[in-house]
Amino acid sequence: MIDFILRAAVPDDIPAVLALWARAAKGTSITDDADGVTALLARDPECLLLAVRADDPAALLGTVIAGWDGWRCHLYRLAVDPEHRRRGIGAALLAAAEERFAALGGRRADAMVLDENELGHRTWQAAGYGPQPQWSRWVKPLEED
Ligand SMILES: CC(C)(COP(=O)(O)OP(=O)(O)OC[C@H]1O[C@@H](n2cnc3c(N)ncnc32)[C@H](O)[C@@H]1OP(=O)(O)O)[C@@H](O)C(=O)NCCC(=O)NCCS
Repeated sequence: MIDFILRAAVPDDIPAVLALWARAAKGTSITDDADGVTALLARDPECLLLAVRADDPAALLGTVIAGWDGWRCHLYRLAVDPEHRRRGIGAALLAAAEERFAALGGRRADAMVLDENELGHRTWQAAGYGPQPQWSRWVKPLEED
């Protein structure tokens, strides 16, 4: 089994992060490009958490965005390299995100999870998350697609 460590992403990681999301993430969207991730790291340099190989900290295994806006805690882009799944990396990323939220005073974390993403459902449920079927997401794009 591969040893991994967790660390915050830096701008040099952005190409590898986008490549991982392209092959591993679910529900990617409008902000998944270099400009989007650059803006994210400029706004909050600690929020993009990476799992990387312990013997090669540039080798990316997984990600999660642990976003804190001063009001609520939002999780995005939980993704693990398909070759390294089911080894505790996703759970470790979520635990680190929750540790960050607790240190910042966050009281509740949430995540957007596709209804059809059963693998995601199992992972979120195992970490203690559950759906709120009485709510729907309402969206308005702020730029042309
Ligand atoms: C979801 C994802 C991040 C999980 O990452 P992972 O590193 O494989 O997860 P872990 O090994 O930490 O698993 C944690 C727990 O989740 C559950 N789980 C994860 N994968 C599972 C699977 N294939 N089948 C059943 N349960 C699963 C288990 O309870 C597991 O604990 P266990 O292995 O002790 O039984 C990974 O599968 C992934 O990248 N999927 C595609 C992207 C995605 O769907 N992300 C979520 C978007 S909302």
